[in-house]
Amino acid sequence: MNTRNILVTNALPFANGPIHLGHMLGYIQADIWVRFQRMQGHTVHYVCADDTHGTAIMLGAEKADLTPEQYIAGVQVEHHRDFQRFYVDFDIFHSTHSDENRRLASLIYERCQQGGAISTRSIAQLFDPERKMFLADRFIKGQCPKCKAEDQYGDNCEVCASTYAASDLINPRSTISGATPVLQESVHYFFRLPLFADMLKEWTRSGVLVPSVANKMSEWLQAGLQEWDISRDAPYFGFEIPGAPGKYFYVWLDAPIGYMASFEKLCAEQGLDFGAYWNEGVSTELWHFIGKDIVNFHALFWPALLQVSGFRKPTAINVNGMLTINGLKMSKSRGTFITADTYFANLNPEYLRYYFAAKLASNPDDLDLNLEDFTLRVNADLVGKVVNIASRCAGFINKNFDGLLSATDAEPGLTAEFQRAATELAEHYDAREYGKAMRQIMALADKANAWIAEQQPWTLSKAAPQSSDVQNICSVGLNLFRLLMIYLKPVLPKMAQQVEQFLQIPAMQWSHAASLLSGHRIGTFTPLMTRVDPAGIAAMLEASQGSLATVAEPPSAAIAASPLAKEPITAEIEFPDFAKVDLRVVKILHAEHVEGADKLLKLTLDLGVDDKGHNVQRTVFSGIKSAYRPEDLIGKHTVLVANLKARKMKFGWSEGMILAAGDGKDIFLIAPHEGAVAGTRVT
Ligand code: 2FM
Ligand code: ZN
Repeated sequence: MNTRNILVTNALPFANGPIHLGHMLGYIQADIWVRFQRMQGHTVHYVCADDTHGTAIMLGAEKADLTPEQYIAGVQVEHHRDFQRFYVDFDIFHSTHSDENRRLASLIYERCQQGGAISTRSIAQLFDPERKMFLADRFIKGQCPKCKAEDQYGDNCEVCASTYAASDLINPRSTISGATPVLQESVHYFFRLPLFADMLKEWTRSGVLVPSVANKMSEWLQAGLQEWDISRDAPYFGFEIPGAPGKYFYVWLDAPIGYMASFEKLCAEQGLDFGAYWNEGVSTELWHFIGKDIVNFHALFWPALLQVSGFRKPTAINVNGMLTINGLKMSKSRGTFITADTYFANLNPEYLRYYFAAKLASNPDDLDLNLEDFTLRVNADLVGKVVNIASRCAGFINKNFDGLLSATDAEPGLTAEFQRAATELAEHYDAREYGKAMRQIMALADKANAWIAEQQPWTLSKAAPQSSDVQNICSVGLNLFRLLMIYLKPVLPKMAQQVEQFLQIPAMQWSHAASLLSGHRIGTFTPLMTRVDPAGIAAMLEASQGSLATVAEPPSAAIAASPLAKEPITAEIEFPDFAKVDLRVVKILHAEHVEGADKLLKLTLDLGVDDKGHNVQRTVFSGIKSAYRPEDLIGKHTVLVANLKARKMKFGWSEGMILAAGDGKDIFLIAPHEGAVAGTRVT
């Protein structure tokens, strides 16, 4: 087998918030792959860093009354701690605010300039005259120019879903100072991405992406590429652009360069050859593991930047989907925003690693952490199947045979079947088809348990505790267990280490599956994994509610805690005015995403039967996508403003409006009590 030399990176987390379970999905996926490749005997360098630049981090530091450097240093310690707790085994966890990154970002920028890939022009943007800074759209709020809804962000309206320029907002205000922004011109630096369109069309189809992601890229490439604004004006926490005083690299320019910078630091620490992994034409591999929300940066900008600056392009980009918890998007107020820290305080990280592995594939499908399923699967598979094999067999060997395994294999057909599985399992791991691997491993575990149950060593042992049959059966059982643990080691590194101690064997490698333990003395068995404690799950959910409520609120919590205080009751109306609103119970028959709309779902509603006996249905566009997945809405009841005049929206006609409560952060669909029938009037 040829030894591969692989550099693996994980997306760099922003240094302005805690690591949560959604982040962990991508890190655990990459770590499993790294551990698997290392067990194969390949050389793998695994790097990551905190992504430390940008306005959000600058403001976060200010709010915490720290310098940005102090702020990011504190976050880095926490992030690194969380990764270690979940056995995500980076060789280095560096920072984009480093000397290496400053030097490499400047170098790449200068090479872009020399290659004719940089253009400059003046653009007009809203500027906060009090804070003396330009405002990105998310720092501007005002009244929607179309439907006049209050408190809408600078690029689109959550109520009517129209998109517009921030300068079109009525009564705009800076969310940072409250001042009214003014339009101001400033020179910006652009990366000329369209120059690379042909290269990208070919490269994205060359096998670096799974087909579904490559197809998405093709759509974007067909639609045409725009020049990419890579500069930001001071004040900005980042690196100043060489030769452009007061202009800083946009955080997304130096973030991926952080992969190189982290590796450069590792090279200095370990005497490795930087060029062997980054020079054009090298045969080493470069693998990026990222989430699907940042594919454009990695599959379009990044390869173009690398090409023009004379570096190699990635071998592959692995993309993971988003995590939902109990079917819901992660949300602070629902208690489904679970940080790695809160999880760790209550549950074993290896449960999560196994659960993710059992559900992961190479396609970037979203993954649901259903806590009931999580409990059942971990208990049934890891405790009930795998650990059970060892606990059934080890006691007899320890007690009656002084820890000594038989010198002969009493069931060669079965052990050979387990050994043969190594090839197919390796293919699944290599292809990031962990779900397939876990299913196959558990099917083998079922076979091992069934065989032991058939042999009944406990009955034999009662009659003749020292019988060689008992020793033989239990030796086969422990050998099968060892093989399963070799196959599970990339997923369960801690448990594998405990098993190595218990079996008194050196660190397990994939090739060890070719041999069995015979005439070997094992150590004493100690419980390897306990069942998931439901109290731990409850405590984790409870802690997620509590801690996040306090984190989410600004210091003046007394006022901010009550949405009513923030949004005073509007002017009184007479009853006849209210009576004009025809509210009806409706059943959601169908729900789907709307292509090109960030916030909308398209709903088909059942409004019951009219006076002629016809079924009445309505189509409504609703800005609830951030809180609900379409599939979770189907069959649910809600309330429709049935006599609202139909409105033509960008994506079609909306025939009414459904009711939801929202505080600007979260959205809760209004639902009648169980039993309400579609069409019933709400009074
Ligand atoms: O989306 C994010 O969290 C970014 N901080 C990821 C950066 S990955 C790479 F480009 F550095
Ligand atoms: Zn609007």
